[in-house]
Amino acid sequence: MITIKSDSEIETMAEAGRITAKALEAVEKAVKPGVTTLELDEIARSVIVSYQAVPAFLHYQGYPKSICASINDEIVHGIPSGKRFLQEGDIVSIDIGAVYQGFVGDMANTFPVGTVSEQATKLIDITRKSFYAGLELCRLGNRLYDVSHAIQTVAENAGYGVVREYVGHGIGRKMHEEPSVPNYGEPGKGVRLQKGMTIAIEPMINIGTFRTKVMKDQWTVKTADGSLSAHYEHTVAITDGAPRILTAL
Ligand code: MF3
Ligand code: CO
Repeated sequence: MITIKSDSEIETMAEAGRITAKALEAVEKAVKPGVTTLELDEIARSVIVSYQAVPAFLHYQGYPKSICASINDEIVHGIPSGKRFLQEGDIVSIDIGAVYQGFVGDMANTFPVGTVSEQATKLIDITRKSFYAGLELCRLGNRLYDVSHAIQTVAENAGYGVVREYVGHGIGRKMHEEPSVPNYGEPGKGVRLQKGMTIAIEPMINIGTFRTKVMKDQWTVKTADGSLSAHYEHTVAITDGAPRILTAL
């Protein structure tokens, strides 16, 4: 069942989203060579709790930390560790969720560590652009897979692989609600977008194959071919006008 949020619920979600964005902003400032992903986790956690919110990922299905930090060929769900040092030339995707007054905000972005290759810069850029191409179609009268298709088109036109085994999702009182929001699909298909729907749109884009593999820690997802991957995510509300990004500062 897709839950439709009232205007006042959307405002609470925007608060949760703002806190999530504050945490990601603080992490972004700390991304540099020599920092560990555990230090980034601690920064995010402390910002979230300073706003009377709770990290959404901590203990979610047994997940041990407050953020996901996925480096280079890691696509998503990298577990922060005091032994993982960011190095010049890496790209790191940071995914953060916060629960505030019963509602969840969920967002991610991929950052360069120092100076990175032209290839990596382009991947990050196209991944963000694919999100915005999808966002633009989050309007009444459109269907969900119009959004999916727009994301897929931008990524595939650049020659990239669109991850299929992991997708975006409805979001609200729970982090994962219906509907699933794939980053690929047939235009004109999927549910009709309705005012008050709230979804997390999160393209995961690989330079090479779309295929993935899960590591021995049971969480970290990597590209099957070792190619670089980027991730970009916002929590979005469908309105009767332009879509509203709830995970905004
Ligand atoms: N943004 C991710 C998602 O939508 C975050 C979940 S990570 C987990 O699924 F550790 F909490 F599972
Ligand atoms: Co998500």
